[in-house]
Order: sequence, then C-alpha cells, then structure tokens
Amino acid sequence: MATTSTLTEPVRWDDDRHAYVVTGFDEASEVLRGSGWSSDPARNPHAPQVLKALPPSVLLFLDPPDHTRLRRLVAPAFTPRALDRLRPRVVAVVDAVLDGLFADGPETDLMEEVAYLIPLAVIAEMLDVGVEGAEVFRAETPGLVRMLEFDAGVHDLERSVAAAQEVTMFLLPLVTERMRAPGDDFISGLAAAGMTAEEMVGMCVLLLAGGHETTANLIGTGTLALLSRPEQVPALHGDPARAVEELLRLEGPVKLAARFAVADHELGGRRIEAGSQLILDLREINRDPRRFPDPARLDLTREPLPHLAFGAGHHFCLGAGLARMEAAETLPRLFGRFPDLRVAGEPRWRDSTTFHGLDELPVHA
Ligand code: HEM
Repeated sequence: MATTSTLTEPVRWDDDRHAYVVTGFDEASEVLRGSGWSSDPARNPHAPQVLKALPPSVLLFLDPPDHTRLRRLVAPAFTPRALDRLRPRVVAVVDAVLDGLFADGPETDLMEEVAYLIPLAVIAEMLDVGVEGAEVFRAETPGLVRMLEFDAGVHDLERSVAAAQEVTMFLLPLVTERMRAPGDDFISGLAAAGMTAEEMVGMCVLLLAGGHETTANLIGTGTLALLSRPEQVPALHGDPARAVEELLRLEGPVKLAARFAVADHELGGRRIEAGSQLILDLREINRDPRRFPDPARLDLTREPLPHLAFGAGHHFCLGAGLARMEAAETLPRLFGRFPDLRVAGEPRWRDSTTFHGLDELPVHA
C-alpha cells in the first residue's frame, strides 16, 4: 500500500515522470515553507515554452520577490473580514441554486446542477461581471485548468493560453473601465491597490483557474463521501467547518503541487540536485500515517490537524477561506433540504493528473 511506502521512503524517484515524488508530510512542509525551490516556469528548463505566453502575474508561477509584491496587493480581498462580508452573498447563491435543484424531476447530475454552479456564481459576484461574464467563465474554465495538469502537453497548454486570451478579451475593457470609475468589487480593489490592467487580468484568470474546478470538486466529492457514509451526516450538521477539514484531508481536490530545485537539497534522506523536478503528492501526504492516526478512515469528528490540501508557505492557497466557506455553507444545506438524497447511478471520476474530482454525480432527491 502506498501509505506503507511513505514510512520507508517519504521521498522517491519516479522514472516515468522524471521527478522526485514526496509523500511524507514533514518533507512536503519543508519544501513548501523552505527556499531553494521554484514555481516559475521561466527559471525551469524543463517547462514548455508555451507556458511563458500566459498572462504575467499568475501568482502560482512566480517566485519571490515578484510573488510577494503581487500577493500583497491581492491579499486584502481574502482576509477573514472580507470573507465575512461576502458570506451573505455566498449563502444567497447557495439558496438560489438549491431552490432550483430537482425542478425538472427527482434525478439530476449534482456536479452540473450544484457543484459547478456555486463557485462560478460566487466568482462572478466577486468580480461583478454579470451574467455575460459568468457565461464566458463557465465556457473557458475547462480550457484554462489544463495549464495546471502536471503532464500537460503543448496542445493542452495552447488550449489554456487560448482560453486565457478569451477571458482577457472579455475582462480588459471591464478592467479599464473600473480603473476609470471604480465600484466596490474585487477588480476595483485591485485597481485601487495600484495593479496594472495586465496584472489585474492575470489575477482574475488565476482566480478562475484555481478557484472554480477545485471548489466544485470539493462540493462534489464531499457530497459523494457523505452519501456513501450517511452515519456521518449528523457530524456535518454538528460542526460543518470541522467536517470540511476532514473532507479536504481525504478528498482534497488538488492531487499534487510541483516545484523545481534551484539549489541542492537533502530531503527525507535523499540528495536532490539543483535542476530536479519535484512532485508533492498531496493525497498521500494527507494520509501520512506518521501524522494522521488511522489515516484512510473518514471521521468528520476527528480533531483537526493542519493538512496540506491547500499547500503551505508563500503559495498557500489564496482562496482557502473562500473555498472552506462555500463548502461549509453548501453541504449542510444540501443534506438538510434533501435528507433522502442518494446516489442514482455510477459516479464518473475525472481523468486528471492534478484534480481529484467527479465529472458526473447522478443523484435522486
Ligand atoms: C494556490 C488548492 C480553491 C486561488 C493553491 C495551492 C493549492 C490550492 C494546493 C498551492 C499550489 C502550490 O503551492 O503549488 C485549492 C483547493 C481549493 C482551492 C483544494 C478548493 C477546495 C481556491 C479558490 C481560489 C483559489 C476558491 C480563488 C478564488 C488560489 C490562488 C493560488 C492558489 C490564487 C496561488 C497562490 C500563490 O501562489 O500565492 N490552491 N485551492 N483557490 N489558489 Fe487554491
């Protein structure tokens, strides 16, 4: 079993992927919080050329100090206070989506009718892009997220760049307008913080790429986990925030984070030479038996221990608070309103190197 190998070999070489794979929690924390590792394709000779055509300011692909400067500009939109202000709008989105659920009959696809709709509507609200913007975002997200696949080929990346260009074409006039006449939305906030139009567009593209599918997957796999273990539903109602942490640990929507060594390192008893690629296997890391007792067991009442589903260190997920809030507001309402909810057909898993999630989850009211 993979978790057993974590005990003996928390860092191993993977010949197929030409990368070191980290499955140990402590080793992964050391990488994410340490220096001498890069996420910037411009510094990585293995990175495909086409990645360099993405808009600048994609935080995930920047190293300090550029990363530090940009992150500081965008962070105020994600403080606990900012999220508290957003909460009533998130709840309104969730209620509206659940009001429409099963309107056409007792069976439906939960992914399409709930899981994808909620984060999309929330991002569209935050950016204040109206129905037209939500349509563009919904159409382009599948293309955009291809850049986040570890094994992305040139074709995937070209599709990503094309999707980013579509979103850019939609956003650029809007961004320019908000710079001239700011409102109280997220984009106007970035303009007030001194970002350039190009940086703002890049930031919005990243929020879309990073925030839509991931949150949809958390809601989808979280629902499936609870439908498979209905005895855990009372614990969800008892403490939704704690329940969401356990779902993130076991069903974390992001399978891996990648880094590139820009210095030599010692890690988990191995020597990692500068120039090597590193894959942090977040699913194994969050099941490291040295940290989590009985790691494969879903227990929504488990005393939460920090996990790495959102990464750590300077790239720690900017939208973690938002994703947690969306899941914690959605799941109890879904199970509260539809107490007889059950799986109505074979769930279809997504085929992806990076994302753990469902393409389809047929449910019955
Ligand atoms: C970064 C996971 C939702 C925006 C990350 C990273 C992970 C992650 C693992 C770090 C990647 C790395 O270090 O290489 C998730 C999961 C989510 C989620 C599991 C949902 C359950 C969101 C949302 C947003 C968002 C809702 C925004 C609206 C970002 C951004 C970064 C990031 C901007 C880059 C931060 C940086 O590089 O400084 N996310 N994410 N994410 N995430 Fe999320």
